[in-house]
Amino acid sequence: MKNSKKCSESHTVMTNIVLPNETNSLNNMFGGELLARMDRAAAIAASRHSQSTVVTASVNHVSFKYPIPEGGVVVVEAQVSRAFSTSMEIYCDVWLDNPITKEKIHTNEGIYTFVAVDKNNKPVSVPESEPETEQEIERYNAALRRKELSLILSGRMKPADSVELRKLFV
Ligand SMILES: CC(C)(COP(=O)(O)OP(=O)(O)OC[C@H]1O[C@@H](n2cnc3c(N)ncnc32)[C@H](O)[C@@H]1OP(=O)(O)O)[C@@H](O)C(=O)NCCC(=O)NCCS
Repeated sequence: MKNSKKCSESHTVMTNIVLPNETNSLNNMFGGELLARMDRAAAIAASRHSQSTVVTASVNHVSFKYPIPEGGVVVVEAQVSRAFSTSMEIYCDVWLDNPITKEKIHTNEGIYTFVAVDKNNKPVSVPESEPETEQEIERYNAALRRKELSLILSGRMKPADSVELRKLFV
């Protein structure tokens, strides 16, 4: 039987300041810089869960709700929301943290798929994931839908083979 781990065991937090060379012409953080930080945090979370080397298979969704100014303290939190067979969905939440006032603003989020691989880049199986909190359960329950959508959009799955989305496409 496959072993199992709590989603929270993969929890990863990366905290960093926005430097001038990481901003756009409006002096806000450059989107590509933030994506790179999110990808790194998500990779660490996936590796913690799988205890394997992992590769990014897909960026399923990213939204930018609130600009992050130069000098801002950015906190990227990543955690496995659901493990499948060899792949894992990782949810990234990004916060602008004011260490002086303690105010925290949720600036954006991203959803990634990572695959655990061996030395030959061949996918290997990962432990099951156990959600505990209300938010973890909500994200876990919606993850299959997102996986199927990502597979359909990347041409890896026929809409007719989808369990959750076939009504949308067929
Ligand atoms: C990701 C990779 C290892 C998958 O290899 P593969 O031989 O296609 O393996 P599979 O078809 O068995 O897919 C492996 C898992 O990934 C999932 N997967 C693959 N592409 C996916 C996508 N676009 N969206 C969601 N899941 C995806 C599959 O559903 C499968 O999940 P499961 O085993 O949990 O059910 C391979 O495509 C690869 O190496 N890609 C490049 C990765 C990389 O270099 N990333 C960094 C980019 S800079």
